[in-house]
Amino acid sequence: MPDLHVVVLAAGKGTRMKSALPKVLHRVAGTPMIDYVLDAAARLSPRSTAVVVGHQAGALKAALAWRQDLTIVVQEPQLGTAHALLATEPVLGDAGGTLLLLSGDVPLLTPATLDALVRKHGDTGAALTVVTAVAARPDGYGRIVRTGEGIARIVEQKDASPAEAAITEVNAGIYAFALAGLFDAVRSIAARNAQGEYYLPDLVALYRRRGLGVETMTVSDPDEVRGINSRGELAAAARAVRESKNADLMAGGVTLDDPATTYVGRDVQVGADTVIRPGVSLEGRTTIGEGCEIHSGVRIVDSRIGDRVTIHNHSVLTGVTVGEDASVGPFAHLRGEASVGRRAKVGNFVEMKKTALGEGSKAMHLAYLGDAEIGANVNIGAGTITCNYDGERKHVTKIEDGAFIGSDTQLVAPIVVGEGAYVGTGTTVRENVPPGALAVSAGKQRNIEGWVDRRKRRRS
Ligand code: UD1
Ligand code: CA
Repeated sequence: MPDLHVVVLAAGKGTRMKSALPKVLHRVAGTPMIDYVLDAAARLSPRSTAVVVGHQAGALKAALAWRQDLTIVVQEPQLGTAHALLATEPVLGDAGGTLLLLSGDVPLLTPATLDALVRKHGDTGAALTVVTAVAARPDGYGRIVRTGEGIARIVEQKDASPAEAAITEVNAGIYAFALAGLFDAVRSIAARNAQGEYYLPDLVALYRRRGLGVETMTVSDPDEVRGINSRGELAAAARAVRESKNADLMAGGVTLDDPATTYVGRDVQVGADTVIRPGVSLEGRTTIGEGCEIHSGVRIVDSRIGDRVTIHNHSVLTGVTVGEDASVGPFAHLRGEASVGRRAKVGNFVEMKKTALGEGSKAMHLAYLGDAEIGANVNIGAGTITCNYDGERKHVTKIEDGAFIGSDTQLVAPIVVGEGAYVGTGTTVRENVPPGALAVSAGKQRNIEGWVDRRKRRRS
């Protein structure tokens, strides 16, 4: 929309969160609140988008730095929502068209509602259109005071008479304004109220006095415009996001044994016929293929899992790739660009970091594989360790196709084990092993007959 500008207010302290973190950076189902708001607004393709920051401005700027085409405006000090809007005058003062004003703490808002708001505002030609909702529990919200001719004013909870406090229609804190004349009007708002703040909702009464058109748009689901002011409300919003994500997954053919304990981030994709057991957390930019089975206690972050993969209980995967028909865990830890090839198997207590395990290879028990390139059909025995770090630098271990690494092997990198080579149990590999060779380093075994009995006698 070419004549649409968006402003998101995010300068407030968020006192009720009792947090060192700015309120709008608190995560709802893994994503900072403000990102929900900015993403919803972006769907309307506005001409410009500005965020008003203030309290902990540095942390917010850093968290939003990745976004392009975003103007950051600083409100200092923070004297209320009207004062916050005035801070955008230097960037919007000359603009015409419509201003869509949003709060950074209303994350469940949908693009459809924003679209309907802007449309209604345009169709009626109002100077201001306010989004309202009828809430079962209106506590904390501004109340919509109506007369026969429509909305008369908005009164904040702390300034409301008992009769006004009983009103259940509330201000969602989402508005469309005609930009023409807006900043002059906002400047004439006074801070004569219980909180001594400049209240943006006061604009309603001011416009009505001036005979300007003020409209309302009431959303059918009050939960959509719920503001997050406390940890309890944060948890409730997270639950709502989780429930709707889980419903989408199930509608797409994914089995969730227990949706109440299944935590799937909003950007995660899961293929049909995948089964997710209770207590699983899938986060970030994760994609899971079709026909997989993800067992209880698994956490997967920013990873790509192919089709028909099994991830056994209590495995943790961050930033990794797993090929189709592979299996991982239980109790495996794969991180930092590790990759597991097709049909490969990684078993219990195996840690992999920056390591590629080739197609059909196996590392079934107790191993640390770091900075390693492991070919196809390799067997990594129990207790194998890549000694990749010399105290100063990391070095690469290369294990070629079909090699067999015996149990309790240390591979002192940089090192190459050639194609089809064998490394005997308990070997410390310090030199390259040629293809087809056997490497052994342990000395010859010696048995001392009767030693145990002799020791017992010495002790008694
Ligand atoms: C506000 C509305 C209330 C409405 C509710 C909906 C006012 C005075 N009240 O109340 O009518 O029902 O939202 O959720 O507007 N902010 C700034 N600078 C400031 C103060 C606030 O940028 O100086 C930002 C906050 O960071 C927040 C938003 O404005 O994102 C709303 O502020 P908040 O303090 O949460 O207002 P509410 O008390 O919830
Ligand atoms: Ca709020």
